[in-house]
Amino acid sequence: MITITRAFQFCSGHRLYRPDWDEERNRSVFGLCSNPAGHGHNYTLEVSVTGPLDHETGMIMNLRQLKEVVKEKVIADVDHKNLNVDVAWMKGAIPTTEVFADRIWQRIESVLHKEAPQVILEEIVLHETASNRVRKRRS
Ligand code: NI
Repeated sequence: MITITRAFQFCSGHRLYRPDWDEERNRSVFGLCSNPAGHGHNYTLEVSVTGPLDHETGMIMNLRQLKEVVKEKVIADVDHKNLNVDVAWMKGAIPTTEVFADRIWQRIESVLHKEAPQVILEEIVLHETASNRVRKRRS
């Protein structure tokens, strides 16, 4: 089995807060990330898939196909958008990197399974900043 990874860049805004908490509690848990006007990040998303080598093509999956799935199911929805208000599949969620990565996984996994049954989604790594990243692996 071989694993291949493709990286994607996009920009999104967000605010971390719970509407059922007061300002003070939000500030103490989420810090500057709870600023009422929000803030943005330049995210990098790495998507890895694993499968057997196809000896006819020398590939495990056409990277162009992987790119199309991720662009259509994720990037088109979130790039230059506010995760709290613009993205239907983030509605009601606190847009931490953990939650965001989990939702992205759900968006990609079922489509990949249908469109490229020879591979499995192995891992996604979502970088929020150069210092912070979240990894989700298949269980
Ligand atoms: Ni943030």
